[in-house]
Amino acid sequence: MKKKVFITGGSGLLALNWALEMRDQYTIILGMHKRNVVLSSMDSQYCPLDPIDELTAYLDSTQPDIVIHTAGLTNVEECEANPELAQLVNVNLSENVAKACAKLKITHVHISTDHLFSGDKKLITEEESVAPLNVYAQTKAEAEQRVLDSNPDALIIRTNFYGWGPTYRQSFSDYIFTALSKGDNPTLYQDTFYTPILAGEVARTVHDLIKHHVNGIFNVVGDERLSKYEFGLKMASHFQFDSKLINPGFLADQSLMVRRPFDMSLSNKKTCQLLGRPIGGVDDHLQLLKQQQSKKISQEIMQL
Ligand SMILES: NC(=O)c1ccc[n+]([C@@H]2O[C@H](COP(=O)([O-])OP(=O)(O)OC[C@H]3O[C@@H](n4cnc5c(N)ncnc54)[C@H](OP(=O)(O)O)[C@@H]3O)[C@@H](O)[C@H]2O)c1
Repeated sequence: MKKKVFITGGSGLLALNWALEMRDQYTIILGMHKRNVVLSSMDSQYCPLDPIDELTAYLDSTQPDIVIHTAGLTNVEECEANPELAQLVNVNLSENVAKACAKLKITHVHISTDHLFSGDKKLITEEESVAPLNVYAQTKAEAEQRVLDSNPDALIIRTNFYGWGPTYRQSFSDYIFTALSKGDNPTLYQDTFYTPILAGEVARTVHDLIKHHVNGIFNVVGDERLSKYEFGLKMASHFQFDSKLINPGFLADQSLMVRRPFDMSLSNKKTCQLLGRPIGGVDDHLQLLKQQQSKKISQEIMQL
């Protein structure tokens, strides 16, 4: 029988891509909050993440084998403007999920971020101490600690992904794709570096990690560090857009934005060594993104 996977934040970018990538191998339940979203071959159910008694009762009756906690307040500017809400959603709800999974002995995956550091080092490993620059990063860093304290068996995944998004939640690749297809001039930063991964590949990699029965922090990112501008150039090339439309810009010039790290790149060495395989570079994953488009997988999400 297929194992049952319950995904919190079920209407979000990662959850939807995760569900589509893994629905043939697992029974998927998308956990909803305010927005209700339905995809074929899976259930969508409202699930309270607070208070903890209701969450525990829900999980006890649903009996998932694996819980993937993707729910969060992910907009950096919104977190800065609403620090109490960011604390509640990113920290308190994550702690609830960790405690409930520990109590019910459910395999628990907590989704964290590459945004936890000051941005003056590249290809950061899992051992590096966090140095958050903003409220989003502070709450995500605190969440990791609370999850580890509440459920030492939890798997914590630091990542930064892209993929086809619904109309109400565009990913970075959607932003570039839409702008270039309309002949607009997106500005992409030359001084911001990261190690992006296709969302579906996060899912595949995490399920491989789960099969190894590991816990603690793992970086699940692509094999290649590049700037956001360079990522845009690669997208233009893969989707046959005119790369000259892309405006090279600098994060350093954006004085009105919340402070962010210039370098968010993570090392995926620990994950790759454990799995005995690479995760894939940007060209590999952009090819997969293009295949998703031609297989119409993208439309299932984009029509939402
Ligand atoms: N996007 C990225 O590139 C990126 C990079 C690094 C790490 N991450 C991490 O990856 C995870 C998933 O990110 P994402 O971009 O897929 O998220 P997203 O698209 O912004 O979706 C967030 C989800 O959280 C739910 N949610 C918000 N408040 C909630 C609450 N109080 N109770 C229950 N659910 C709530 C939302 O439901 P409603 O819409 O119904 O409120 C939505 O389903 C997050 O933990 C994020 O920090 C994201």
